[in-house]
Amino acid sequence: MPLESTLFVKNRKKLIKLLQPNSIALIHSNDEMPRNGDQYFPFRQNSDLFYLTGIDQEKTILTLCPNHPDKSLREILFIIESNEKIATWEGHKYTIEEAQKASGIETVKFISSFDSVFRELALKADNIYINLSENPKFKPEVKSADERFITTLENEFPAHDFLRLAPLLKILRLIKEPEEIKLMQNACDITEKAFHRIMHFVKPGVTEYQVEAELTHEFLWNKANGHAYPPIVASGKNACVLHYTENNSKCKDGDLLLMDFGAEYANYAADCSRTIPVNGKFTPRQKDCYEAVLRVMKKAIGWLTPGTTINRVNERVENLLQEEHIRLGLYSKKDVENQDPKNPLVKKYYPHGTCHFIGLDVHDVGERTVTLEEGMILTCEPGIYIPEENIGVRIEDDIIVAHKPVNLMGNIPKEVDEIEKIMANK
Ligand code: GLY
Ligand code: MN
Ligand code: MN
Repeated sequence: MPLESTLFVKNRKKLIKLLQPNSIALIHSNDEMPRNGDQYFPFRQNSDLFYLTGIDQEKTILTLCPNHPDKSLREILFIIESNEKIATWEGHKYTIEEAQKASGIETVKFISSFDSVFRELALKADNIYINLSENPKFKPEVKSADERFITTLENEFPAHDFLRLAPLLKILRLIKEPEEIKLMQNACDITEKAFHRIMHFVKPGVTEYQVEAELTHEFLWNKANGHAYPPIVASGKNACVLHYTENNSKCKDGDLLLMDFGAEYANYAADCSRTIPVNGKFTPRQKDCYEAVLRVMKKAIGWLTPGTTINRVNERVENLLQEEHIRLGLYSKKDVENQDPKNPLVKKYYPHGTCHFIGLDVHDVGERTVTLEEGMILTCEPGIYIPEENIGVRIEDDIIVAHKPVNLMGNIPKEVDEIEKIMANK
């Protein structure tokens, strides 16, 4: 599926409309993160830079200077200049022409000219927009290239006004363009194939890491970049550890297997969870718990409509799950009446939220208080976790917000009889 530059041209246009007059905005690519010796971790582009340029390469900078008198300097892409040594050791890098075609940006320069060009641009602007990570729950110790560049800005341009780019990009990235939805649908379709492979593979005695290997195989086979996040393959009570990624236990006869997995395609994520019986048949109790989650999920998907918020959906899901918990005998109505309101019983068996935004990042930009609008994409992932019974169930699909929400994973089996039938036909 070749990526057209039209998406990135459109994204830049939308951002430019949100900038104050006489501004320059700049975004750096992600760094190559050193591993050990002479190795780097695999490179993953900065999601914002990819969103604005489609360029998937390190040592890249975008500048936007929409009021610059020289039209050719209003959008500039800086890329690394390749040479024979780089070509021999690392392979092909974008040529100027290739970068122009991929991004739709006319003016592409080599990064060696960045300092002098940037100085010229900045001196024609009053404001400098910098892109800093603003996730309230995530503050990495390692500074990004944009964060490091602040020192230069403060030293060289102390009289400029520094403005925040992240809130503007958040507004834009929340609503997905049709091209983005297509890429995400493809990530979901690859994820679906992997689930079918797993249903045919799993039986008592296989190990969680072998299941992970099967997922990886199917993802790469279908041209995904790989996993959108480290997959959770959790059998038995491992499923009650929410971020279990060790994936090193044997799947036992009679246990459930919870898998939280998703392909990344063209840098767009899928995020899916499915829970299946290791031996292909749910026990009556497992089925009861599973169908409780499924009932809640189906209702919750219907609530992902314009006007609500993730917080509101969470509240409604917790109310439903509380009823299901009582029905499953996990606690009584009376226990609820007497519970500590700060520590409600429902959270004991359902300690996480129902939704998060998804897109270029699996936990994409956007908080739980954002009012949902058509074209946003969210996960819907209720669960029930009962460690004392070795039962952990989570079912998760990716949903487009609409008056009639659209399920990008609607074809990935999740009914009990569907799963049992497929697993019986090995
Ligand atoms: N895969 C991580 C999550 O479901 O949020
Ligand atoms: Mn999720
Ligand atoms: Mn997930």
